[in-house]
Amino acid sequence: MIKLSVKSFKLADVKADVFAVFLFEGENPPKELDSKLGGYLSSLVKGKKFSGKKLSVRQVDTLGKLKAECVLLVGLGKKEDFSAEVLRAASAKAATSARSARGTAMALSIGALSSKKHTAEDLAQAAGEGIILSLYKFDQYKKKPEENGAELRSVVFACGDEKAETASGLDSAEKICRAVYLARDLGNHPGNTATPTFLASNAQRECRKVGVKCRVLEKREIEKLGMGSFLAVARGSAEPPKFIIMEYLNGRKNEKPIVLVGKGLTFDTGGISIKPSGNMEDMKFDMSGGGAVIGAMVAAASLKIKKNIVGLVPCTENMPGGRAIKPGDLARSMVGLTVEIINTDAEGRLILADALGYAKKYKPRAVVDLATLTGACMVALGTHASGLFGTDQKLVDAVRAAGENAGERCWQLPLWEEYDEQIKSSVADVKNVGDRYGGAITAAAFLKKFTDYPWAHIDIAGTAYGAKPGAPYLTAGSAGIGVRLLVGFLKSF
Ligand code: BES
Ligand code: MN
Ligand code: ZN
Repeated sequence: MIKLSVKSFKLADVKADVFAVFLFEGENPPKELDSKLGGYLSSLVKGKKFSGKKLSVRQVDTLGKLKAECVLLVGLGKKEDFSAEVLRAASAKAATSARSARGTAMALSIGALSSKKHTAEDLAQAAGEGIILSLYKFDQYKKKPEENGAELRSVVFACGDEKAETASGLDSAEKICRAVYLARDLGNHPGNTATPTFLASNAQRECRKVGVKCRVLEKREIEKLGMGSFLAVARGSAEPPKFIIMEYLNGRKNEKPIVLVGKGLTFDTGGISIKPSGNMEDMKFDMSGGGAVIGAMVAAASLKIKKNIVGLVPCTENMPGGRAIKPGDLARSMVGLTVEIINTDAEGRLILADALGYAKKYKPRAVVDLATLTGACMVALGTHASGLFGTDQKLVDAVRAAGENAGERCWQLPLWEEYDEQIKSSVADVKNVGDRYGGAITAAAFLKKFTDYPWAHIDIAGTAYGAKPGAPYLTAGSAGIGVRLLVGFLKSF
């Protein structure tokens, strides 16, 4: 991971291969730099060669007139639309542009952007996240890693008097991004590496490093607990299921915990209701909710958040085979409700049902689950927002706000009781699919039946993987979505 540091500098004295300077639309460049360059920067603005449009860049060689070899103008868009997310994206753009320009040392200055609304610390964290996340690479399976330009090795934040706040924001960014890297790695590993056993051993190793207690329940113990819904999905797989329990109890002794639940489906073939083969390879990302929860637990501990937090990740594959569940089969869940399995591809809700049931043991203050649950959620919202549902509006609002701050937006969908009609079964307490319409909602309505505490559900099917235009800190493959949202939520809730 790249190293971020803070230094006091006059702008004209900043030394770097690339010095990123952020400008709003119509804003003039800093005088100190412009005058050393003979008014060239302001002439670019005047001549509309650099407009300040969001994420636009213009590289200017300084020909020895500054200590920085080149200045990179980076647009922030309209001043009134500024947010931490704009800076996160612009910093990412700066970092990837500096890398393409074969720079190894970048400097930037964000001191002028802080205000009452945006503290220097928050902005440093956002900029740090944008830089680190944009430079993520997953090339460990390649004999010869691809060249993306040079390797950007260091970024210096040139500061005035906001040095301590900036340093603290960067420290948070590094801790959080390490956890996002972990979640991305877990997602990007192929299904034949990232098995339930692999997820469990990685969770144990990473938890040990930061002082989170991590226990893994084996099949025998899962059977003893009566998690028949989870085990129904695991039946078809040769890989043994695992149930990961992570506990980080750093709050008051009697404070009820916040429980995070993540879908840890390491590969989803659909089972007997098998999926079409087009893009089926993407179903290695079906454990992204679980990866986010593991990442969030690690981040919470490295940030020493003063709360009691529990993470639960049921892990299995969903495979067809001679022992696999069949449409029409029944399962008995841990809370006692029976489930008619109409479609074996609606497996996420089956494994989550028992994790949500297990969460009751903690008498939680709140439970938040994340899952790549439905294609229907992608149909509804596309890939720019996760679906958000819940039984407690205060909790839902807190999750939504945390997502907004993190640049991991969620959009609430209804959970009216009318939707329950669609999942009534004639033989069991509930069936695992509704009809054609409102599939993201009927999935959430199914999960709701296994909760009796304040609960929120985030459907990340559309946001868990895939680079997106306009989000330059998202790299190809796993997005590590949810880690930063959860960290913000845990801090504020
Ligand atoms: N893991 C999938 C959902 C998914 C689809 C995630 C596409 C990411 C991209 C989930 O297990 C699933 O298969 N859901 C079914 C539910 C249906 C059978 C009711 C779906 O969405 O088609
Ligand atoms: Mn499925
Ligand atoms: Zn799935």
